Amino acid sequence: MPDPEGAAPNSGVDVSEAQIAVHWKEEEHLPPPAKFVSQANVADGSIRSRFTLDRFPDCFREYAELLSWERRWHTTLDTERAPFYRWFVGGRLNASFNCLDRHLPHHAAKPAFLWVPEPEAEPVLAVTYRELYERVNEFAALLRDRAGVRAGDRVTVHLPMVPELPVTMLACARLGAIHSVVFGGFSGEACGVRIADSGSRVLVTIDGYYRGGKLLDHKANADLAVAAAAREGQRVDHVLVWRRRPEERSTSAPWVEGRDLDVVTELPRFRGAEVPPVPMESEAPLFLMYTSGTTGRPKGCQHGTGGYLAYAVGTSRIYQDLHPEDVYWCLADIGWITGHTYIVYGPLALATTSVLYEGLPTFPDPARIWRIAERLGVTILHTSPTTIRLLRKADPEGPRRFDLRFKHLTTVGEPIEPDVWRWYFEVVGGGRAAVVDTWWQTETGGVLCSTIPGVDPMKPGSAGPGALGVHPVILDDHGAEVPPGTGRAGNLCIRNPWPGIFQTIWGDPERFVATYFRRFNRDPTSRDWQDWPYFAGDGATESSDGYFRILGRVDDVINVAGHRLGTKEIESACLTVREVAEAAVVPVHDELRGRRPEIYISLKPGASDPGQVASAVARAVEEQIGKIARPSAVRVVADMPKTRSGKIMRRVLGAISNSLDVGDITTLANPEAVAAIQALVRPAGSSPPRPSRTDGDAADPGDR
Ligand code: WTA
Repeated sequence: MPDPEGAAPNSGVDVSEAQIAVHWKEEEHLPPPAKFVSQANVADGSIRSRFTLDRFPDCFREYAELLSWERRWHTTLDTERAPFYRWFVGGRLNASFNCLDRHLPHHAAKPAFLWVPEPEAEPVLAVTYRELYERVNEFAALLRDRAGVRAGDRVTVHLPMVPELPVTMLACARLGAIHSVVFGGFSGEACGVRIADSGSRVLVTIDGYYRGGKLLDHKANADLAVAAAAREGQRVDHVLVWRRRPEERSTSAPWVEGRDLDVVTELPRFRGAEVPPVPMESEAPLFLMYTSGTTGRPKGCQHGTGGYLAYAVGTSRIYQDLHPEDVYWCLADIGWITGHTYIVYGPLALATTSVLYEGLPTFPDPARIWRIAERLGVTILHTSPTTIRLLRKADPEGPRRFDLRFKHLTTVGEPIEPDVWRWYFEVVGGGRAAVVDTWWQTETGGVLCSTIPGVDPMKPGSAGPGALGVHPVILDDHGAEVPPGTGRAGNLCIRNPWPGIFQTIWGDPERFVATYFRRFNRDPTSRDWQDWPYFAGDGATESSDGYFRILGRVDDVINVAGHRLGTKEIESACLTVREVAEAAVVPVHDELRGRRPEIYISLKPGASDPGQVASAVARAVEEQIGKIARPSAVRVVADMPKTRSGKIMRRVLGAISNSLDVGDITTLANPEAVAAIQALVRPAGSSPPRPSRTDGDAADPGDR
């Protein structure tokens, strides 16, 4: 069978992020600041000797020991059905117990979350571990008794950054139900597709929330989601609606009797309820997290309980360097994998105090982040390079005006330019904080490449070596290893499994194997993990010091502001506009967001005003995916560049959009189309006016 997703550069994908990556020069090492080292959870390099490949897989017991098990496991790793790995087999545990119950004896009064509403006049809400425990129990009782949720059921959660989001997740986990959180900024349509794929009968949402100074009506999305799910044959029986303002409903969407449940009016019946945490097999799925791939259909990455949680807690301790006394702030949205692992499961399992912020980082002004950090005494900040670029641009001296106490600064989601790295280190951290750049993916559950902050020298622009017990390798398109220090880019792969690896794609095990393992597999019948390198889908280089530099995706995925969008998903949204004959989406460099999708369309004969069609296309993309996918431009072309077999050459469009050389076009069926598109995109002698530019909200890094 041809491999639809295991594509490497130049085999099936004609323009990829990795191909348009900017190569910056190799930077010098910098030692981690002494003050950080003096308090780091791990300050001794000898830890690596416990995680060498010959200690695999038992080295990871060290992470599992950080959890409380109802029954201990007997087998660390079972590879009998490789690459469907089973971790900590025989063990039983409950994720909500590990994040809540076990902290009650010592941390009941400690805030789990400091929730900061977007409107500055609203007070910060501290939710202690005891309160979180109570709220989770009450909501679990409601889910069980009013919505009939049982272990193994899927529950789709479409919530913004409010405490009700972790409450809902932990309530599901308490019951052994599988949560599928859909990023709150995704459209109702996108949510509906995910509801249908996961087979959820229950949707948890909220009436409204604040974003950019506006109270958005979120319940309206739930209605669209239920309708979209119904079109795919999935019925939603219950829509549980939280309230943003307890005293009144913040939505004008109609209330569907019998389907919609007002959580605030229902909860009093469950006051003081205690729901025993259901002990789950280590291998029981904990959650699904949908992500984009090469085909139009998002994939539900299924994460298990024991392996995932062990990896979340272990890496939170070592790479985020969480300590009990820290005030930690991860700016990601819980609706992405970063928020699942590094806001909810890892930090809560370690009884950390986390800041949870509802709104836009730059609302009402670019100093908002620094005000919050100063006021709440934040010691660790975790964010994306896009947010850092945005804050630097808005006010490069901003952080200096505040009494900031960061000791550790971490990044995730995209490559960070050395220049941006230095601003983060010098201006935000005052040169006193350690900086780490963590590379990983929805599929991987936790960090796979990063420096250990108290041990390894920092190197701007490089993610660093493989995480403890994780052994990356660069393979060329033929599967040969690219040795370190050659400067040659290749496919970033991981030699071995690790506990955080996802278990499968929900409902599509074949796609799981095809996408991530088939490409470099040595023997499809092998049960030995050594024969199944994990193909990450990223291009990278490895320097002689063993540090990896990530260039970007090698497939049809575009990373916008640290979030993954599939070009095929965007193209299908474009094709829903009646007048559009063909659509092609390419990544373009964007000063703030790293990359953005740019759309080329051709119209059907007799189509009306091209300007109007272009606007309709931009709207369709927003409605079907979300604001985050909004294109930098929609360009209407008379003719797409095509091969003789009629395939659109995205490589050529990508080169034009990124002002790169289009290369050899003589083999095209219509080479003359290229000059026409070039003239459209960059009219001679002028700086590019972009007639159909659909500028996004420049202040929104898309974190939500
Ligand atoms: C990219 C986010 C460079 C990469 C945790 C990966 C990065 C995709 C980095 C996963 C980094 C993530 N440097 N690129 N530190 N971290 N990426 O699934 O292309 O939303 O494959 O997971 O983001 O995105 P995802």
